[in-house]
Amino acid sequence: MAEYKTIPVSDDLASNAWADDALYRKMYQESVINPEGFWREHGERIHWFKPYTRVKDVSYDDHRIEIKWFQDGTTNVSWNCLDRHLEEKGDQVAIYWEGDNPKHSSQISYRELHERVCRFANVLKSQGVRRGDVIAVYMPMVVEASIAMLACTRIGAIHSVIFAGFSPEAVAGRVIDSHAKILITADEGVRGGKTIPLKANVDEALTHTGVKSIEKVIVFQKTGNRIAWYKHRDIWWHELEPLASPHCEAREMDAESPLFILYTSGSTGKPKGVLHTTGGYLVYASMTHQYVFNYKDGDVYWCNADVGWITGHSYVVYGPLCNGATIVMHEGLPNYPSVSRISEIVDKYQINTLYTAPTAIRALMAHGQDVIKNTNRTSLKLLGSVGEPINPEAWMWYRKTIGQDKCPVVDTWWQTETGGIMITPLPGATPLKPGSATRPFFGVLPAIVDGLGNIQEGPCEGNLVMIDSWPGQARTVYGNHDRFVHTYFSKFKGMYFTGDGARRDEDGYYWITGRVDDVLNVAGHRMGTAEIESAMVSHSHVAEAAVVGYPHEIKGQGIYVYVTLNKGVSYSEELAGELRDWVRREIGPIATPDIIQNAPGLPKTRSGKIMRRILRQIAAGEFENLGDTSTLADPSVIDQLIDNREAAG
Ligand code: WTA
Repeated sequence: MAEYKTIPVSDDLASNAWADDALYRKMYQESVINPEGFWREHGERIHWFKPYTRVKDVSYDDHRIEIKWFQDGTTNVSWNCLDRHLEEKGDQVAIYWEGDNPKHSSQISYRELHERVCRFANVLKSQGVRRGDVIAVYMPMVVEASIAMLACTRIGAIHSVIFAGFSPEAVAGRVIDSHAKILITADEGVRGGKTIPLKANVDEALTHTGVKSIEKVIVFQKTGNRIAWYKHRDIWWHELEPLASPHCEAREMDAESPLFILYTSGSTGKPKGVLHTTGGYLVYASMTHQYVFNYKDGDVYWCNADVGWITGHSYVVYGPLCNGATIVMHEGLPNYPSVSRISEIVDKYQINTLYTAPTAIRALMAHGQDVIKNTNRTSLKLLGSVGEPINPEAWMWYRKTIGQDKCPVVDTWWQTETGGIMITPLPGATPLKPGSATRPFFGVLPAIVDGLGNIQEGPCEGNLVMIDSWPGQARTVYGNHDRFVHTYFSKFKGMYFTGDGARRDEDGYYWITGRVDDVLNVAGHRMGTAEIESAMVSHSHVAEAAVVGYPHEIKGQGIYVYVTLNKGVSYSEELAGELRDWVRREIGPIATPDIIQNAPGLPKTRSGKIMRRILRQIAAGEFENLGDTSTLADPSVIDQLIDNREAAG
């Protein structure tokens, strides 16, 4: 890996940022030495109906994992994101919406957004939604997706956003697990000039046995194309909204009342419903948004994540709106209709901050200067990256080509479970090293442990853990606290285990090396190998499947599937194609295998455990040094796997 020079903080930036290096160090020290005092002060950045007196009630104790912040305070997320801004910023644009088709766009002020959220909250109430009910949101990137989310928070309903790229099967699984009462969707989504049959997917999902909880489906009309309609169940958004009152008081919620569920993949089993709660989450999302992006009033801020992921929750909707920002929401793909789309959108809205994923950066990088054709991007002040490790080359290209060498790049490491950014540069404080997520945010106590949980000092490499809680931390897995405890707190006692590996250098900077468990990160999307394997084996020709990641130039990791077919079935390219389609249908296009290899035998230990390490090496084309294979039940499968590797391409 090429070594790049450290990029110092400019004097100008240091004096214009929320924190320079000295202030960062001072605040960081305070935050970890006296978290109670630090968060007592900073918790006040949001509006509380009833102020909290308690700040941090956390137990990472082996027998009792309990995480509570500001627990006796009451507040409301939608009130903080909307009502609070009306007096001073009522006419300011809250959201610039940019369609998939560059000719389509709209804007909505804080006052208008407030009114629409109130109306839609009343629509939900009219459909019997009560505090604590779960509402599934399966929406494209339209303003109404954020209206739906904010309306839920206004009345204390818990939203569960399901990424619009997921299949009916995946929607069904999430609805069953969360017992969602209402599902909000659109007739169709539009991305890259293609339509996505969202309502038809919902219709199919709801036919699954096991889906019993959905009473109504509220449908937003996006394309107006014909869709099937079930009178007893389906209702049009546009018929209800105008009838509803524009007044809806924001309900006073306890700090620890559930805010949303978001499903994410782990190393085993089905996706988990990670649960975030109200007060701590909002404090953390808004504070990180302010400091990490050096957000100042009047900035135009664009995070191009989808609301279906945590980045869309914390840094499209809640963090920036809580801070009263003007945000941009883009419906489509970063390279449609041409590779210069991102740059054009930056110029069109005079965007100051752009926050995107390494996979998008690498995909653009391949097109060189075309990406910035006929644009100047002079409005940009800061660039952000999230979702997967960014290689230094892509980092440098991002800074140079998109940012004209004048914007700091903040590489932000965090997770669905952390609620907000955890390890990151602060633009006015942190000298940048391309490829490093650098230093912890306030209140974050990372450590690197060896396989036994021993904390390592100084420069080292190992497993990344957190040794204390922060306000944005997930509280539980919805309906399954044992799974929460088991997944995050059982491997290393008394610590939160991230599932990531990291290296710490001599300056105390963190370099994330990627997942150390069986989770893949494909184009910034998290996926469990177990989920893909279980989709594969549900096909009638498949006896067994093992899924691993392999290095992929654009996506970071690609999906490599070893498949053992049932007796009597012979492998063919046609069957491989069928299996690929099968997985797309079962999970969604993001889970489509890149490479399928015929594997009449898999490398197993005598106790029947698949040795994935070997499969990973073969997938990466590293046939030398396969390590100790003596524990394999049948070492001869290795040669066969290597032979077939060539055929798989
Ligand atoms: C990875 C996305 C390196 C990591 C916010 C983590 C990163 C997983 C970075 C969480 C980064 C995220 N550098 N790796 N800056 N950001 N990751 O839950 O493996 O979708 O555990 O949250 O993405 O993915 P999730």
